[in-house]
Amino acid sequence: MPVFVVTGGAGFIGSHIVEALSRRGEQVVVLDNFSTGKRENLTGFESGIDVREVDLASEPRLVDHLADVDTVFHQAAIPSVSRSVEDPLTSHQANVNGTMNLLVACRDARVRRVVYASSSSVYGDSPTLPKTEDMPASPISPYGAQKYFGEVYMQVFWRAFGLETVSLR
Ligand SMILES: NC(=O)c1ccc[n+]([C@@H]2O[C@H](COP(=O)([O-])OP(=O)(O)OC[C@H]3O[C@@H](n4cnc5c(N)ncnc54)[C@H](O)[C@@H]3O)[C@@H](O)[C@H]2O)c1
Repeated sequence: MPVFVVTGGAGFIGSHIVEALSRRGEQVVVLDNFSTGKRENLTGFESGIDVREVDLASEPRLVDHLADVDTVFHQAAIPSVSRSVEDPLTSHQANVNGTMNLLVACRDARVRRVVYASSSSVYGDSPTLPKTEDMPASPISPYGAQKYFGEVYMQVFWRAFGLETVSLR
């Protein structure tokens, strides 16, 4: 049976992904450092879910959490423009170093696919609506830049290592 990992699975969006997978009867591992996520977000659908407290940016053996994993939904981040402006280093550590550590571990564990939560913040202050994926990236905050670096690394891990990746804005 394929195993799904949801990073940031105790957060707002991640917990809904966990719930949807759980209701389908899938086996789900949550990796979260609980910086903004809460265990209460996962109440009501705990069965089949393995919740592990892990910091993606600093965990040296992330690969050990990815054995037999088919797909990773990568939601973990410090998802705040204002926090990235106030403290760009902490935000970079979670959003860029955490993503890189995860991608290397996914490559090494032979994960099939990573689905990455990017953000419309990569478009900066472009007034064009609706936004389309072919519009150029032009971030104006550290957060927007970090989300865009994540997208670029997703593409590079496909090209360099054959790891399937999808970025969603
Ligand atoms: N909510 C939105 O409107 C929105 C819009 C665009 C993109 N996104 C992206 O979607 C994702 C989820 O956003 P959200 O609104 O659910 O945020 P959230 O803060 O509710 O969830 C983020 C989760 O990541 C965890 N986390 C943070 N740093 C971590 C680390 N280093 N290691 C492990 N876990 C870590 C937090 O504890 C939390 O559970 C983020 O990547 C965000 O950038 C969100």
